[in-house]
Amino acid sequence: MNEKRILLIVTGGIAAYKSLELVRLLKRQGLSVRAVMTQSATEFVTPLSMSVMTEDQVYGHMFDLKEEREIGHIQLSRQADLVVICPATANILAKMAAGISDDLATTILLATDKPVLAVPAMNVRMWNHPATQRNLAQLRADGVHIMDPDEGAMACGEFGPGRLPEPPAIAEQICAMLGHDFDAMLTSGRSPTTVPSGVPLARPLSGQRILVTAGPTHEAIDPVRYIANRSSGRQGFAIAAAAAALGADVTLIAGPVHLATPPGVARIDVETAIDMQAAVEKALPVDAAIMVAAVADWRAAQAPEQKIKKDGGNIPALNLTENPDILASLATHTHRPRLLIGFAAETEKILEHAQAKLAKKGCDWIVANDVSGDVMGGAKNAFHIVTKDGVDSWPESAKDVIARKLMEKVADALAKG
Ligand code: C5P
Repeated sequence: MNEKRILLIVTGGIAAYKSLELVRLLKRQGLSVRAVMTQSATEFVTPLSMSVMTEDQVYGHMFDLKEEREIGHIQLSRQADLVVICPATANILAKMAAGISDDLATTILLATDKPVLAVPAMNVRMWNHPATQRNLAQLRADGVHIMDPDEGAMACGEFGPGRLPEPPAIAEQICAMLGHDFDAMLTSGRSPTTVPSGVPLARPLSGQRILVTAGPTHEAIDPVRYIANRSSGRQGFAIAAAAAALGADVTLIAGPVHLATPPGVARIDVETAIDMQAAVEKALPVDAAIMVAAVADWRAAQAPEQKIKKDGGNIPALNLTENPDILASLATHTHRPRLLIGFAAETEKILEHAQAKLAKKGCDWIVANDVSGDVMGGAKNAFHIVTKDGVDSWPESAKDVIARKLMEKVADALAKG
C-alpha cells in the first residue's frame, strides 16, 4: 500500500492540544502519522494521548537508547514524505532559522531532506516581532513552507494574527502538499447531503499534464569550469509544487539546484541548455508548459576535455555560441502545449521588454519580473502577466503564494480551453 507518511513535530504552545485533533483528521484522510514531541510540548499534551492518536510510540529523546536503536533520528525523517511542525512556536522557528539542533526535533529538522511545513501559533506580539518576521523570511528563503496563522481572539486575551489555523484547514494544506485527495466530508464528519454546495474544487488541474523548467543551466568551459547565473530554482519549484497540489501530473526539469523535490512531482535533473531541450522534447506532449528556467543564452563554442592550463601571461579567449531557445522552439513544435508560458527576468523597462518577448517567442503569456533587487535567490517575487489582451500586475508575495495564484490562473485558462 502506498500510504503517505507524515512526521509531525509538536512544539510547546497552548495550541499543542489541537495537534491531537489534527492527527485524528489526517488519519481519517488515510495518511499515516508518526509524532515527535519537544520537552515543552509534553507540558501541554501528554505523550500518552498523542501515542493513542498516532497508534505508535511518540519520539522525544535524542539520547534514548531504546528509541535510537529501534529507529534512529535520521531514519525518522527519511521514512516520511512530509515533515509538519504543528504548532510551531516562535522558539522553534528561531532555532530552525539559525540552524540550531539541540534536541530530537531540531536535529531532525536540520538533517531532513524532505519538504517541511511549519504551522506557526503564538501571541500576536511575538508573531509581529521583527525577530520572528526575520526568521520567517529566512525560513521561506530556505524553502520551508509556512502556513499563515489565523487572525482573531487568542488564548492570552489579545487579538490579531498568530492563532493556529483550524485543524481541517491544516489537514487540507497537508493533503495538497502531498498530492493526496482531500475529502472534506471525512474531515467535517458531515454527511454528503449537508456539505454546502459551491465548495471549491480543490484539484482543478486534475488530469492535466504540466511541464515546468526551473533553475539555471551550467555550460562547461572545460571539465572544471562553467558559465552559470544566479537563478536558485525556487520560483520554478514553487510553481511545480503548486501545480501538483492542484492535482496536475507534473514533470519538473531542473537545472543544477539544491532544492528538495516537491511532493508528487516527477523531477528530471539536467545540467546544460542542450540537456534541458532534450528533456523537454521527451516530456511532450503536455497541456501546459511553464518555462521558468534561466537558460544560459550562450555556451562555450569549444569545451576541451582537459582543464585549460594557466599558461604564463596568455589569457585564453572565451568563444561563445548561441544556445537553442527552448521556449521559442516549443512555440512552433508539432506538440505545442495548449498553454505556453515564458518568464522574463528583467532589470529595466520590464513591461516593454516582456511585450516584445511575447511576440518574439510565440508564447501565450510572459510572466515578467523585476530582478534588479534580490528576487533571484530571494523568498519573494512580484509578477506582471503579459498576454495579448493586456497586463495583469500582482503585488509582491512569497514565491509559494504567487505560484499558487499563477497555477489557479493556469487552471482557469485550461478549463476554458
Ligand atoms: O530570452 P530570455 O532568456 O529573456 O527569455 C526568457 C524565457 O525564455 C524563459 O521562459 C526561459 O525559460 C526561456 N528560454 C529558453 N531557452 C533559452 C533562453 C530562454 O527556453 N535558450
